[in-house]
Amino acid sequence: MNRRKSILLFAALPATLAFAQTPTPPRPPDAARAGRGKAVYERYCISCHGEHGDGRGYSAQWLDPRPRDFTRAIFKCRSTPSGTLPVDDDLMRTLDEGLYHTNMPSWQVLGDRQLRDVIEYIKTFSPRWKEEGPGEPIHYVREPADDAASRKKGQQIWNAQACFNCHGQTGKGDGSSVPTLFDDWGFHITPFDFTSSPHRKCGSSDKDLYRTFLTGLNGTPMPSFADTVPPEDAWHLVHFLKTLQVENTSQGIFGISMGQ
Ligand code: HEC
Ligand code: HEC
Repeated sequence: MNRRKSILLFAALPATLAFAQTPTPPRPPDAARAGRGKAVYERYCISCHGEHGDGRGYSAQWLDPRPRDFTRAIFKCRSTPSGTLPVDDDLMRTLDEGLYHTNMPSWQVLGDRQLRDVIEYIKTFSPRWKEEGPGEPIHYVREPADDAASRKKGQQIWNAQACFNCHGQTGKGDGSSVPTLFDDWGFHITPFDFTSSPHRKCGSSDKDLYRTFLTGLNGTPMPSFADTVPPEDAWHLVHFLKTLQVENTSQGIFGISMGQ
């Protein structure tokens, strides 16, 4: 590379970087809030998440999935891109609603103030919060009509992305890859049966599911599809996914009888 070219390239670099991802500044824990949050944590969270926030509270050994280890600051339910820290509102939603299909209950009764405090305290367990800012929340494109054509497109994406490898053809969580699935802490993980309940861990509304596809569940084999599925197609997937819920046990997907 000649000298002139390399200077030109060098000059162009900062602009390119700024365009690709503008990092948000770190939001280290607010000391006053974290101080109050410690008391909340020690009263309500420590039995599962542990004194050091490593997910090793005294009840942890009996729980599947295990309580989250906060020392690595890896979170499943985020509006932010895969691999980035969540925004406070993501953590707030988890605390408000709890995580279905797990032992993590809703903490809504504690009220907004105590929840904001305990969120700050959780951040003190990992140095990541001092080094990085949260990711930039994803955008929602307009939702197309939820009709037969949209669900069909969603099914094609389900097949093309091989979601069934993990989730099974009918969403029962019995795909052929299941024996090989582990979370980032080395525990075996099975996708839960979509047909048995309308509730999803990180929220069950159409908007929640859209977000889940485009951000993934960090710490688990459930990837983000942001790089492979265009945002409008994510809505088609959402529409298809809802057909996997069996409302009446004698009826299978699309109303086809699944046998006795
Ligand atoms: C009875 C046990 C239990 C208690 C008590 C409990 N949790 Fe949890 N919590 C869990 C489990 C289990 C998970 C992991 C669920 C999973 O990975 O699917 C979890 C996960 C979380 C997560 C991670 C969410 C994500 O997006 O990955 C946060 C944040 C959290 N808990 C905060 C709290 C706070 C704050 C308290 C106290 C107010 C608390 N938990 C009390 C069991 C508990
Ligand atoms: C490599 C395996 C794998 C693939 C491929 C995969 N998933 Fe998942 N998925 C998982 C696992 C494991 C979970 C459960 C994570 C948990 O409960 O913590 C999950 C969870 C989910 C959930 C529930 C989220 C929630 O909030 O509870 C939805 C919806 C989902 N996957 C849809 C899809 C779709 C649609 C595709 C294809 C576009 C797909 N998955 C591909 C492994 C996979």
